[in-house]
Amino acid sequence: MKLEKAKINDVPEMHKLINYFAEKGEMLARPLSEIYENIRDFFVVKEGERVIGCAALHVCWSDLAEVKSVAVAEDKQDQKVGAKLIEACLADAKALGISTVFCLTYKPGFFEKFDFSQVDKMELPRKVWTECYRCPKFPDCDEVALICRIKTEA
Ligand SMILES: CC(C)(COP(=O)(O)OP(=O)(O)OC[C@H]1O[C@@H](n2cnc3c(N)ncnc32)[C@H](O)[C@@H]1OP(=O)(O)O)[C@@H](O)C(=O)NCCC(=O)NCCS
Repeated sequence: MKLEKAKINDVPEMHKLINYFAEKGEMLARPLSEIYENIRDFFVVKEGERVIGCAALHVCWSDLAEVKSVAVAEDKQDQKVGAKLIEACLADAKALGISTVFCLTYKPGFFEKFDFSQVDKMELPRKVWTECYRCPKFPDCDEVALICRIKTEA
């Protein structure tokens, strides 16, 4: 299995993976158009030509990025695919010089494995809410917010 930056041809499989879990209420759905527009944010893990996992790091501001759309195929879970994806997103944030990464999730325990800690959603800067206005759950968000501080080179 191989971690790489997502390519255009991976998008239909990424879309299927994300929306499979979204239908089960485990994460937010993403339309195809949004995945295409943000393709540069995404990492995938592939087994041969099959996309078995994906995750995105989306830059919000000079000091803030979000990890989103983390999904691993059910038959490939518990094999550290999710870990590979989160580590890639955090390394990307570090390389960019971004000091804080946050996520909104129903699986806080998973993110806590990677030095994320829970915060009150209201502590997140207002600029992260731009996307929330489009969420079907807004304003009754039941996701948990977590942040991870990145040690950037001085
Ligand atoms: C959550 C998810 C991404 C985890 O991926 P995975 O490849 O199975 O996870 P890994 O095998 O890399 O696990 C890494 C560590 O996290 C732990 N972990 C995995 N899922 C967890 C969960 N739901 N809660 C708490 N810990 C979890 C593992 O036990 C492992 O811990 P260890 O290092 O102490 O052994 C995967 O289950 C998934 O895609 N779920 C459906 C979609 C979803 O909920 N996405 C996340 C929210 S956006």
